[in-house]
Amino acid sequence: MRTPHILVGAGIVAAVCVLALAQNQSIVDTPHNLSATGTSVIRASTEEQICIFCHTPHNSSPIQPLWNRYMPVAAYSVYTSNSLDAQPGQPTGSSKMCLSCHDGTIAVGSVISRDQVIQMASGITTLPPGSSNLGTDLSDDHPISFPFDSTLLGKDPHLADPLSLPPEIQLDANREVQCTTCHNAHSNTFGKFLVMNNDSSTLCNSCHQISTTTIQPHQDCISCHQTHTAPSGPYLMQGDRITTTCLKCHDGTHAQAPNIQPDLLKVSSHDTNSPVDPTDPIPSHVTCIDCHDPHTMTTGTANAPAIHPNFGQINGINASGAPIEAASTEYEVCFKCHADQTVFTASWVPRMITQTNTRLEFAQSAASFHPVEGPGRNSDVPSLKPGWNESSIIYCSDCHNSDTSTLSGSSGPDGVHGSNQQPLLIARYDTADFTRESAAAYALCYRCHWRTGTDGILQDRTFPHSEHLGEDITCSACHDAHGISSSQGNSTNNAHLINFDNTIVFPDPDTGLLKYESTGPFTGQCYLMCHGKKHSPKQYPD
Ligand code: HEC
Ligand code: HEC
Ligand code: HEC
Ligand code: HEC
Ligand code: HEC
Ligand code: HEC
Ligand code: HEC
Ligand code: HEC
Ligand code: HEC
Ligand code: HEC
Ligand code: HEC
Repeated sequence: MRTPHILVGAGIVAAVCVLALAQNQSIVDTPHNLSATGTSVIRASTEEQICIFCHTPHNSSPIQPLWNRYMPVAAYSVYTSNSLDAQPGQPTGSSKMCLSCHDGTIAVGSVISRDQVIQMASGITTLPPGSSNLGTDLSDDHPISFPFDSTLLGKDPHLADPLSLPPEIQLDANREVQCTTCHNAHSNTFGKFLVMNNDSSTLCNSCHQISTTTIQPHQDCISCHQTHTAPSGPYLMQGDRITTTCLKCHDGTHAQAPNIQPDLLKVSSHDTNSPVDPTDPIPSHVTCIDCHDPHTMTTGTANAPAIHPNFGQINGINASGAPIEAASTEYEVCFKCHADQTVFTASWVPRMITQTNTRLEFAQSAASFHPVEGPGRNSDVPSLKPGWNESSIIYCSDCHNSDTSTLSGSSGPDGVHGSNQQPLLIARYDTADFTRESAAAYALCYRCHWRTGTDGILQDRTFPHSEHLGEDITCSACHDAHGISSSQGNSTNNAHLINFDNTIVFPDPDTGLLKYESTGPFTGQCYLMCHGKKHSPKQYPD
């Protein structure tokens, strides 16, 4: 901790004299040499004293160390965010000294020891607008004037112990973070008057222990953050939004950073452009950091259902519906917004059984389901292509992904960012009635299920598929791509993902029934009317 400046009277005059030579040498070539001998744009017309802009040996204001400036009285807007634990108040201590020039309200040459304001070259009075003028709105600057003590440490586990900070970093007498914690007005050795080199984020990491990412460009805090006058306000982001911050590099301008921008502009996308600190709760909006934690993401691969390393440590909702701090699977991340708290009140395809809670659709107890939370119910699914089998688990992102992703066979970035195939599908999947069957129309399903060949869907080993598809009936007229929840369906009527599209399939007028009944492996019957044909009932195989 810095020795408090409680020296008074002659004591400090002596101290100032002793240190004068050293301070003079270090300050002379910096932008803080505001005398006529200075080399910066902002300098006096004729005044040759250097220290006078800040200090005077006599008649100074009662503030140490012999401060020569009137203190600002402006009411500042202070930093705040949803995650902040500290409670910054109005600026105190040495921060007010800095702000007596840097808030842009008091003339640089206005000092207590002179009756007249010291005239500056080019007629400059207060700091001109620009990066050095922080203004009186400090809500977009790193928080200051709050105690950094064990109480705060207890609230934020990502902070370093304030009692073992490097000696260059000093809190004030009240253990508060001030401008002078990071800056030394007398020395510009490290640029920007910083107290230490921040090239590898050494300064930031001395207090913050938040980053464990192995992605090299993400290790530098100021890749994403801006310490002062940050466009986002809360979280001090370089962009006005989180997305714009990430897209600084992920828009194709940075050679190594995968270009996400084209996907975000597609017909179907996660509209990630919401404010940094929305007042409404998720799931009504989404940003990059709802899936990727910027500070902990790493590179690498994973197998379903395990979470992708580039998600980092991200919160989620587990299969039982409970919130969790660190999701271990991908679907737990999606469940934040597409399960109990769902954005959608209507399904993409209108069906007999409506369900938008994907957690219930994919539950291991569901009537039937694609194997997202765990292996599926059917122990004999002949159409599966090599790489998939009855004990496979698949990702939501095996179906919901960019249509130009590497996974899709193209060369763009992978991810649930956007696609020209709705709803955010990796490949085409037509759901309109009277769709002519083709490899292209159901490309999504044929990624994992054979279309042709001995076990192909069109081979009718398990169901007279070709007959139905030949009538231009879509897969989605019969199959629900997700699953049917246990409270709404059962393993007789909703086996094999059967959940009819009720704009295509109607009750049979003779029986009044609309239902499917599984009667064993590859056998079953239907009561319905479709494309004018009645099943009252009709069995397969016939
Ligand atoms: C741009 C403003 C500014 C100028 C110019 C300036 N100082 Fe300072 N000085 C400060 C501030 C602010 C502090 C208080 C630092 C703190 O509280 O941590 C300070 C503190 C001091 C101290 C107390 C010990 C210390 O380093 O904290 C001495 C001594 C001192 N200044 C000497 C000088 C001398 C000599 C000059 C001229 C060569 C000079 N200063 C020019 C802003 C300035
Ligand atoms: C007497 C007025 C005055 C005071 C007091 C003052 N500064 Fe400055 N400061 C300036 C001026 C003038 C500049 C140059 C601005 C420019 O060129 O745009 C400057 C520049 C800076 C810069 C930018 C340096 C660079 O290389 O771009 C930093 C950082 C800075 N000051 C920090 C501080 C801090 C921290 C304090 C308090 C400890 C402080 N200043 C007190 C007038 C002052
Ligand atoms: C937590 C550390 C920290 C605190 C506290 C802090 N700064 Fe800074 N400041 C920085 C860093 C780091 C930079 C350099 C930013 C960069 O290089 O992008 C900087 C840059 C600046 C600049 C130059 C801006 C520019 O874009 O050139 C000024 C002026 C400045 N600070 C003034 C202040 C003032 C005045 C205070 C107190 C109100 C203050 N700083 C508090 C870390 C801090
Ligand atoms: C002297 C220690 C110190 C240094 C150096 C420091 N910070 Fe901080 N910073 C803090 C503390 C303490 C908080 C308040 C944390 C809290 O409330 O949980 C904070 C808050 C923040 C916040 C806002 C957090 C929120 O929840 O809204 C951001 C962003 C931040 N710092 C980034 C940086 C960056 C980037 C750097 C390097 C340029 C840096 N900090 C340097 C101590 C420091
Ligand atoms: C890849 C971009 C990126 C990088 C690099 C980055 N951050 Fe962040 N940071 C963010 C985003 C986005 C947020 C806001 C959302 C959040 O809370 O995670 C944030 C939030 C924060 C917060 C406040 C939230 C919290 O959880 O306490 C702190 C403190 C912080 N960052 C510090 C740092 C420090 C220190 C570094 C460097 C070691 C750093 N960040 C590097 C993007 C980044
Ligand atoms: C300063 C530029 C920059 C910024 C800003 C940036 N990134 Fe990156 N990011 C990169 C680069 C470069 C890579 C590739 C690193 C590699 O391949 O080793 C990358 C990789 C990634 C990866 C993929 C990791 C993998 O290999 O699987 C993700 C995910 C990512 N960034 C997300 C984000 C998010 C989210 C943000 C905003 C919070 C962000 N990035 C901000 C430069 C940046
Ligand atoms: C933070 C909330 C959130 C998370 C987490 C989230 N989503 Fe979304 N999702 C949305 C919102 C909101 C929309 C509506 C489109 C928009 O406005 O962004 C949406 C839309 C979708 C759509 C449909 C797009 C359309 O055109 O109808 C799909 C499919 C989707 N998300 C899949 C996923 C998957 C898979 C995951 C997990 C990897 C996931 N989402 C994670 C909020 C979220
Ligand atoms: C086997 C492929 C597949 C998997 C796996 C999959 N989906 Fe879907 N999803 C679809 C298809 C196809 C649709 C279009 C509607 C339909 O066919 O019923 C869809 C529709 C959606 C919609 C739009 C709203 C709705 O309910 O119709 C959302 C949101 C969605 N899926 C999210 C998810 C989430 C979250 C996961 C993982 C938990 C997931 N999906 C897993 C294929 C899949
Ligand atoms: C709904 C969840 C979700 C959101 C929101 C999201 N991503 Fe992703 N992202 C993913 C998934 C899933 C992957 C693929 C993971 C894998 O296969 O490794 C991915 C992969 C990536 C990759 C690596 C691509 C590659 O091929 O290496 C980058 C870079 C990336 N995302 C950046 C971003 C950026 C920037 C944003 C905000 C604009 C964002 N993501 C928003 C889910 C998301
Ligand atoms: C990412 C790979 C993948 C995609 C894409 C995919 N499936 Fe599947 N599907 C599987 C796996 C794995 C199983 C085996 C589950 C089991 O054993 O119960 C399966 C099983 C099925 C079953 C049998 C379920 C049961 O309980 O009998 C049907 C029906 C089915 N899929 C239809 C479709 C349709 C329709 C599409 C296109 C919307 C599709 N699948 C897309 C991987 C996929
Ligand atoms: C007219 C209704 C109907 C249509 C249309 C339909 N299916 Fe099926 N499908 C069924 C029924 C019923 C079963 C269950 C057969 C059994 O095991 O008893 C089934 C079984 C399956 C299976 C699991 C058994 C196997 O062969 O591997 C898959 C996969 C499948 N269908 C995919 C598709 C795809 C892909 C489409 C569209 C190209 C489609 N289905 C169109 C009714 C239909």
